[in-house]
Amino acid sequence: MAQSKILVVGGTGYIGKRIVKASLAEGHTTYVLQRREIGLEIDKLQILLSFKEQGAHLVEASFADHQSLVDAVKLVDVVICTMSGVHFRSHNILMQLKLVEAIKEAGNIKRFLPSEFGMDPMLMGNALEPGRVSFDEKMTVRKAIEETQIPHTYVCGCCFGGYFVGNLSQFDSLIPPREKVNIYGNGNVKVSYMDEDDIATYTIKTVDDPRTLNKTVYLRAPENILTQMQLTEKWEKITGKKLEKCSISKEDFLALMKVVDFAGQVGVGHFYHIFYEGCLTNFEMGENGEEASELYPEVQYTRMEAYLKRYI
Ligand SMILES: NC(=O)c1ccc[n+]([C@@H]2O[C@H](COP(=O)([O-])OP(=O)(O)OC[C@H]3O[C@@H](n4cnc5c(N)ncnc54)[C@H](OP(=O)(O)O)[C@@H]3O)[C@@H](O)[C@H]2O)c1
Repeated sequence: MAQSKILVVGGTGYIGKRIVKASLAEGHTTYVLQRREIGLEIDKLQILLSFKEQGAHLVEASFADHQSLVDAVKLVDVVICTMSGVHFRSHNILMQLKLVEAIKEAGNIKRFLPSEFGMDPMLMGNALEPGRVSFDEKMTVRKAIEETQIPHTYVCGCCFGGYFVGNLSQFDSLIPPREKVNIYGNGNVKVSYMDEDDIATYTIKTVDDPRTLNKTVYLRAPENILTQMQLTEKWEKITGKKLEKCSISKEDFLALMKVVDFAGQVGVGHFYHIFYEGCLTNFEMGENGEEASELYPEVQYTRMEAYLKRYI
């Protein structure tokens, strides 16, 4: 079977650039949207040029120009969108509705993967304010996709290693604590962690796979299901140094909402659902769900010991 041609929208972003790399590595003809609005953002342009050097095609378009999106979409079979969705960076999930409109008009798309890659928004109906905005907006996009009957796959269900592993899941840092680690509750809630390059590899694997059509693919690789305490112990073993553990009750953690800004409040809510409620692991995947490492056992996914060693 011929491999699908893929357009990545949001390709210069944190997860987007890994998806472009994975698409090229898997041999797909790969297009990357070059937004007119990037203007003088030299880093973005350099990333785009490096994609071109690696064999990608750049396609100029703008979210403010519907026809340009339609024309871009018509070049390919599959669209993967990695639109921003982290509040302390930027958050434009609903911009994707314009892409859904373009895909609808183009009429040729065999699979659309919207920007998901986090908690399954379908399961977050009771999420706390204000962080629930992330899930509500992703559900709005899903609704538009499903109403338009666009073939789709939702890839979700894990914590990115860069945000949650290297820092032993600390809320306010991206690097490992040196002396004292804050532990959520007793630290025994199971969490799904994953290397971002593996997320990208699994994402690309789904696009031509009939088993993932109109399904949710969860990134829940068995050896990367760890509690925060287990993650911390792995780090202690690597460094040969014990950290002082400081347990935070859920009440004390939620009290942080009162002292942080809006982006921080969103983060507190998300951490709460992951580390106190176990929202990444406390459910069965069900009929409409598939697990990525089961579908693609050939992928040698990175274990979290290896991920942590980068931080020594
Ligand atoms: N599970 C986790 O731990 C986790 C962690 C982080 C993020 N996520 C999820 O991953 C997804 C992607 O997040 P990210 O952090 O990779 O995003 P990001 O790097 O902040 O942004 C991705 C891209 O969004 C595009 N974008 C931003 N503002 C735009 C605008 N006004 N108009 C059009 N395009 C715009 C840009 O595309 P260009 O390349 O065109 O400039 C940007 O590169 C989100 O759904 C997020 O919720 C999950």
